Amino acid sequence: MKFENLPDSGGHYGEFGGKYVPETLMAPLEELEEAFEQEWHNDDYRAELNHLNRTFSGRPTPLYKSESLSRLAGTPVYLKREDLCHTGAHKINNTLGQALLARRMGKKRIIAETGAGQHGVATASVCALLGLDCTVYMGSHDMQRQQPNVYRMNLLGAEVKPVSTGSGTLKDAVNEAMRDWVQTVENTHYIIGSAVGPHPFPKIVRTFQKIIGEETRQQIIEIENRLPGLVIACVGGGSNAIGMFHPFLDDDVQLVGVEAGGRGPKPGDHAARLLQPESGVLHGALSYLLQDDEGMVMLTHSVSAGLDYPLIGPEHAFLAKDKRVEYQNATDEEALEAFHFLCSKEGIIPALESSHAVAWLMKNMERIAKGVPVVINLSGRGDKDVEIIRNI
Ligand SMILES: Cc1ncc(COP(=O)(O)O)c(C=O)c1O
Repeated sequence: MKFENLPDSGGHYGEFGGKYVPETLMAPLEELEEAFEQEWHNDDYRAELNHLNRTFSGRPTPLYKSESLSRLAGTPVYLKREDLCHTGAHKINNTLGQALLARRMGKKRIIAETGAGQHGVATASVCALLGLDCTVYMGSHDMQRQQPNVYRMNLLGAEVKPVSTGSGTLKDAVNEAMRDWVQTVENTHYIIGSAVGPHPFPKIVRTFQKIIGEETRQQIIEIENRLPGLVIACVGGGSNAIGMFHPFLDDDVQLVGVEAGGRGPKPGDHAARLLQPESGVLHGALSYLLQDDEGMVMLTHSVSAGLDYPLIGPEHAFLAKDKRVEYQNATDEEALEAFHFLCSKEGIIPALESSHAVAWLMKNMERIAKGVPVVINLSGRGDKDVEIIRNI
């Protein structure tokens, strides 16, 4: 039960995490933490969330045996089908939980940031469902490469605000969302889309995403009558991975997080924070951050917008330092190969983000223990990526 009491009351995971925010946000963050702790233990709130998870989002998602990957690996390989969630990715698990919380806190307006657009679409959907006003910040580069999701957010009634500062990607969108929140916190809730940001956000996001690992644990025991030997998930900010890993932390299960290896290990060409881990503060939390010698946040690159972020969530930094989770990376090229493999051999078009997790398995087949089941979290579907693939 080593990991049960994380974070501590200050939001720390060992030396990582915390609340590095302007004074104006301290009280709202405390108010949020209090509301979350209260509602999470409120039967009425939990019943509402469970009901919508089932009827709106389509949970539980299946645990599906991939025959083609099993043949390649020489051991059973299962895909946790978060790609079958309503709106196309795991993001809805967190968005639904936070929007229901915001409504109970009396907030009428929601803001969010988005990279791949999946979190933006999930947020826009639940806001439409719950009658909340919705603004989504999105980097201009990401808007270009994830066009279908921009249009979907508009259809769902959200305003998408382009952010052209910096590299026009996820980091810049979070900056703008934070700036908005500081000024509007009285009536606005900020639904952060990953296990990042100041405490209590990483804990809240993990709590809503843990359903992925909890279902998987139950399903694999039902199917295989044992736990998996290896669980793999891609890591952007880290929400799908922490949601999948958390229920296995105290078990004898190998956990591998796969970051974006981009074009290769040269600085600026990837988003693999654990290649040369260095601590730094971004968006309210201390964690491993890609930065240059002067401490300036480094530009990142990944073919997948959702993994293109310079900071890894603070709980992952802790798990890396503790050596409980192994963090590896897969390049753009390897992810694309895995993408095409799943399309042509399995009849599944995966998100480019999730393709990184599949890619890591595909290039490490020899290292995999035989006879023990492997689970990959297929965090999302690739409809949003079809244009990117077409233009490569
Ligand atoms: C399908 C999918 N998987 C993974 C991610 C990465 O985010 P996280 O690390 O928070 O799961 C994203 C982010 O947009 C995504 O859309």
